[in-house]
Amino acid sequence: MKFDVQYVRRQFPALGRTLDGEPVAYLDGPGGTQVPQSVIDAVVDYLVNHNANIHGFFDTTIESDHLMADARDAIADFLGCEWDEVAFGFNTTTMNFLLAHGLVHDLHEGDEILITQIDHEANRGPWISLQDRGVVIREAQVDAATCTLDWDAFERLVNERTRIVAVNWASNAVGTITDVRRAADLAHDVGALVVVDAVHYALHGVIDVRAADCDFLLCSAYKFFAPHGCGVMYARRSVAELVRSLRLCTQLRETPFKFETGTLDHEAIVGAGAAVEFIADMGRHHLRRVKADPALAAQVDGLDGRRRDIVAGMLAAEAHEQPLARRLVEGLLEIPGVTVYGPPEGHPRTSTVSFTVGDLTAEEACRRLGRQGLYLWDGHFYAYRLVERLGLLDRGLVRAGLAPYSTADEVERVIAAVRELAAEG
Ligand SMILES: Cc1ncc(COP(=O)(O)O)c(C=O)c1O
Repeated sequence: MKFDVQYVRRQFPALGRTLDGEPVAYLDGPGGTQVPQSVIDAVVDYLVNHNANIHGFFDTTIESDHLMADARDAIADFLGCEWDEVAFGFNTTTMNFLLAHGLVHDLHEGDEILITQIDHEANRGPWISLQDRGVVIREAQVDAATCTLDWDAFERLVNERTRIVAVNWASNAVGTITDVRRAADLAHDVGALVVVDAVHYALHGVIDVRAADCDFLLCSAYKFFAPHGCGVMYARRSVAELVRSLRLCTQLRETPFKFETGTLDHEAIVGAGAAVEFIADMGRHHLRRVKADPALAAQVDGLDGRRRDIVAGMLAAEAHEQPLARRLVEGLLEIPGVTVYGPPEGHPRTSTVSFTVGDLTAEEACRRLGRQGLYLWDGHFYAYRLVERLGLLDRGLVRAGLAPYSTADEVERVIAAVRELAAEG
C-alpha cells in the first residue's frame, strides 16, 4: 500500500523545524508525538470561544458540555466501545493509581494480582502499592533473549486466587506486541479482571476492546497526536457499574463519571477528540488504497462511519511504518558494535526500535545524535524491570520511534549517524 507521507507531514507545523539548515527528525514519538494543525486549532478554538467549566446554564458552559461529549464519542470510536465506557483523567499513571485504589475495596488479604516484567511502571507501581493492604503481587517473567513474555511462566502464575491481571499491549522500550487477548482469556477463566496498558500500542495498532476482551484499558492521548493532559480509561460497562472508585461524594456515581475526579483538562480532552478526527481523516485519505490491499481490506470490511476511517488510518500508518522499522533494524544490525533489542523477526511489534552503540551510554549517544537534529530518547523509559532484565540499567537504551510522519530518508539518516558514532566510539 502506498502511503501519502507528504499529505501527513504537511499537517504538522513542528516538522518545519530545522537545525543547521537540515530538518529535524522527530523519532521521539514513544515519548509523545507531534501535534497536527487541526488539533492545535481545536484547542485554540476551545480556549478562545468556549472556555468554561461544565454543567452550567449559560452558552459557554453548555458548549463545553457538548465538546466534551463529542470528544468522548470520538475516543469511544477509537477504542471500539460505547461513550459511557470512556473515562477521562490526566494521564495513564494517575488513572491507574485511582483505579487500583478503587478496586482494592473488593480485594481480600491473600488475593493475587499478576503483573509482568514487560510492563511500564505505570501498570506495575499502582498494583504493587496495594501490597500493604495484604494483596499478593505475582510477576510474570520476560524472556530476556527475545524480549517477549514467558507465557509458560504466565500461565503457571494464574490461579484461583488471581483477582487482577495487569498487562502491557506493546512495550514502549522495545516494541514487542503482547497477545493481550490470550492474557484476558487466562484471567477470565479464573474470574480475574484484566487491565491493559495500551499507551504505546495506541499509536501503532487498531484498538478493539471487545476483541481484546479486556475489562479496563488505559492510554494517554499525547502519544497519538493530542496535547498533554488527557488520559483515557476504557471501563467495561458491566464491570464498571460494580466497582467502587475514588471520587468526591458530590461527584456523579454513574459510569464513566465515577472514575473522573475533579475538574478535567477540557482543552486537552477536546484536543484528544480532534486527534481521533485527524486519524480518521488519514483513513479517509487512504481508504481506497486500504480497500485495494488484500491484507488490509478484510479489517475494514463490515465497518462504517468514523470507526471504519479510524481503523483505515491506523492500518495505513502501520503499513507505512513497518517496512521503515525493518529497514532500520537491518541497517543497524550491519553496524559493528551495535546491538538491537526487541522481539525476533516475525513476532508482532511496533515500529519502535531500541539499541546500544558500542560502549557509549544511551545518554551520550542521544546527545550526539541530537546535535545532528535526530531526536531520539535514551534510558529505561520507565520500563524499568525489562531494561533491568536486559542488564542495561546503567547505560540505557537508545530508542528510535517511528510515527506516520517518519520518512525513509530519516531512517537512512539515523543509520548513517549511528554508523559514525560506532566508528568514533
Ligand atoms: C507503555 C506505557 N505505559 C504507561 C506510560 C505512562 O504514561 P503517562 O506518563 O501518560 O502516565 C507510558 C509513558 O511513556 C508508556 O509508554
